[in-house]
Amino acid sequence: MKEKKAINQPAVRKALRPFGTTIFTEMTVLSNRVGAINLSQGFPDFEGPEEIRRAAADAIMRGPNQYCPSMGITPLRKAVAGKMKRFYGVSVDADAEVTVTAGASEAIGAALLGLVEPGDEVILLEPTYDLYPPMVAMAGATAVYVPLQLPGFSLPREGLQKAFTPRTKAIIINNPLNPTGKVFTKEELAFIAELCGRFHTIAIGDEVYEHLVYDGRKHTTLLQIPAFKERAIVISSTAKTFSMTGWKVGYAVACRRLTEAVRMSHQFITFCTPSALQEAMAQAISMEDAYYQGFLERYTAKRDLLCRALGDMGFDVLWPEGTYYTAVDIADLEFDDDLAFCRHLTSEVGVAAIPTSFFWHQRRDGRNLVRFCFCKRDKTLEMAVERLAKWRS
Ligand SMILES: Cc1ncc(COP(=O)(O)O)c(C=O)c1O
Repeated sequence: MKEKKAINQPAVRKALRPFGTTIFTEMTVLSNRVGAINLSQGFPDFEGPEEIRRAAADAIMRGPNQYCPSMGITPLRKAVAGKMKRFYGVSVDADAEVTVTAGASEAIGAALLGLVEPGDEVILLEPTYDLYPPMVAMAGATAVYVPLQLPGFSLPREGLQKAFTPRTKAIIINNPLNPTGKVFTKEELAFIAELCGRFHTIAIGDEVYEHLVYDGRKHTTLLQIPAFKERAIVISSTAKTFSMTGWKVGYAVACRRLTEAVRMSHQFITFCTPSALQEAMAQAISMEDAYYQGFLERYTAKRDLLCRALGDMGFDVLWPEGTYYTAVDIADLEFDDDLAFCRHLTSEVGVAAIPTSFFWHQRRDGRNLVRFCFCKRDKTLEMAVERLAKWRS
């Protein structure tokens, strides 16, 4: 009897039940089913650099293909430390301050699980990437939401200050911000750093789009802000910069004390990340400046192509300062909400997009914005534009 009762209960733990299947899976599955052009989930429809793929293949054939050190192989940790110096002027100890993880996703999870006690509070700025709330819940903490303010998704200084309490263990800062493409200013980050200092709070910086910052702006990593030096964990990934989202090679950079927390949980989650892919990504990160410049130039052209075309169709377009996403306002269109719009667009127009309401805990706050990614071949973007323009006219 007891066994039958147990079988009728949901197996999923209570903390995770409110979340359901991610919107990225839902839209990609729908897009594939109806044969739409998938501008929803953020992955390229082209391959990353050939020499990097060959380097991984060579490493697999050469071997060994066994567990590597949990913290990551030395060449990759050194490449990450080199990158921090080269792009940001920040000195990092590759042995004690860099940890390689299964993508930025695992790094965020490892940071939270390694740091946070049940009952702690974690501040999430909205819109918030959909992985953070369930991760906070799995860590047994409480998410405290602070919406960025319009226009421009700027930092609501007063609101943020009010959200900090003696229980605020961490704040997650996604910079550049998915889905709106906001890039935080140095002043905004310094303001957060001051609050973190006052409340003994750790900042977790999710900087996976660090190399996609447009129009001459410069990305500021948290570790460039002196007050964050002992208080921030900077997380990034090779997924976006080298167009290999399926490899899941990410990393966390932090002072020795915070790195200990990340490594403590990381060793019990995945232990280590595929060593051949790490070897190839060590080579990728160390590529010449020309690679990074070409990457940014190609993405600037893609952004311009899609944003300009959406504007010409009469959409109110959010031109991103960073990331490979743009968003349009659908308030004037006759749909119940952004989800209904995206389902219609995918099934009837043949272009998939992401309803951004899933980036707000009160979904109504984001129901007027729909996100398109432009990490696609120009031909794909042109085909999507053609379909959308035909529908709009
Ligand atoms: C803001 C943000 N963080 C993290 C990730 C996941 O990165 P990874 O694939 O390296 O786990 C993504 C992927 O879209 C993202 O947009």
